[in-house]
Amino acid sequence: MTLVGDARKLRIAAALEDARSRTIALLAEVSDELLEAQPDPILSPLIWDYGHIGVYEQLWLVDALSGQRPADERGLDVYDAFRNPRRTRSALPLMDRAEVDRFRDGVRERVLVLLAEADLDGGDALLRDGYVYDLVVQHEHQHGETMLQSLQILPGGYRPALPALPSPVALRRRDPVAVPAGRYPVGSASQGPYDNERPQHAVDLGAFRIDRFPVTCGDFARFVDDGGYQRPSLWGDEGWRWVTETGVRAPKHWDRDGGQGVEWTVERFGHVLPLRADLPVMHVCFHEAQAYARWAGGRLPTEFEWEVAATWDPAAGRARRYPWGDEPPTASHANLDQRSFGPAPIGAYPAGASALGCEQMIGDVWEWTSSHFQAYPGFAAFPYREYSEVFFGSEYRVLRGASWAARAGVARPAFRNWDYPIRRQVFAGLRCAYD
Ligand code: AVJ
Ligand code: FE
Repeated sequence: MTLVGDARKLRIAAALEDARSRTIALLAEVSDELLEAQPDPILSPLIWDYGHIGVYEQLWLVDALSGQRPADERGLDVYDAFRNPRRTRSALPLMDRAEVDRFRDGVRERVLVLLAEADLDGGDALLRDGYVYDLVVQHEHQHGETMLQSLQILPGGYRPALPALPSPVALRRRDPVAVPAGRYPVGSASQGPYDNERPQHAVDLGAFRIDRFPVTCGDFARFVDDGGYQRPSLWGDEGWRWVTETGVRAPKHWDRDGGQGVEWTVERFGHVLPLRADLPVMHVCFHEAQAYARWAGGRLPTEFEWEVAATWDPAAGRARRYPWGDEPPTASHANLDQRSFGPAPIGAYPAGASALGCEQMIGDVWEWTSSHFQAYPGFAAFPYREYSEVFFGSEYRVLRGASWAARAGVARPAFRNWDYPIRRQVFAGLRCAYD
């Protein structure tokens, strides 16, 4: 059997190849020394992610489909995310770059043989419509974003010339969008996406308003200048404890005295730039986002308010798959795919507006919501509990949207990202909601 003649299988093979070549390109300029460095215990050394992606492919596209184990499986356990918390990963006996490349070549060869034989229309839920292949491709894309988070904090090691961002955009309006009370559908209906997005169900929402655009650096600088970090009334108890303990006074990577004759500078992948007031604020944690929203007279939206503002089409009486319609993102809809190495100015993507009028919900920055990461009613773990289920509870907050670093294939309004409320390495900002 071969792949030739089966358009679906050829698309799967191309998506696997695309994901892998993006990973290789992302790390091509990074020295072996930096690949192994772990400047912050909250992120893995890059070389761990690099091997983990390949071991995940072996696990789901070879082992799970055929029971075939790699010729030498000694040492692969070090890439199990659950046995090895991030802070321990630089001490593990990891493969180096060439060893990972060789390992992945071997895995990919077996994957393609199994793909040629696979029955994508049979009774195996892993194979149906290519589910497990999409899972592995999305997994590699997600680790691409995690690796960029590491590259942002590695000391001056990663300096792609940053692409030019669009000039400031004159906004037609900046008033919040009003969403009427009602019963709205949320979640993903098809099997394709992650288990935590299913099942699609209805939620009852009270009337609310929500910002048309993400909060900008200019907005956030006013909060800082107004003593936002020094006013306990704006912070939750947990947030105030965090601010007191860390002494944080501005978003991560902001510097008051960047020595450029400007009030603030921002560091992006080793480039120190004057702060641009019209760019969405990025690298704030949940607590900072929540304090800002209170200062602005609002609050963070719940994840469902966010999703309804992104998808609901009042004229058609249904939810769209994306804010702009049902077609997947193109370069005119959203700032994705690591094209710009940072968020674009607000107003730069009018074609990506939702029916209700919210812009830049997909792309630019992830947006913190007030919601804990919980199971939807009727949730069933698939294909493994450790993707979502073990994280459900009140420890994590949900982020929605997608950042500039996300690949189009993982960017959709129903997608649920999550992290600890103190985490600032995520390419995340916020937009406010109001009662
Ligand atoms: C959805 C980004 C929280 O990195 O922990 C990667 C994605 N899951 N490998 C994470 C994920 C398994 C996940 N996040
Ligand atoms: Fe992973």
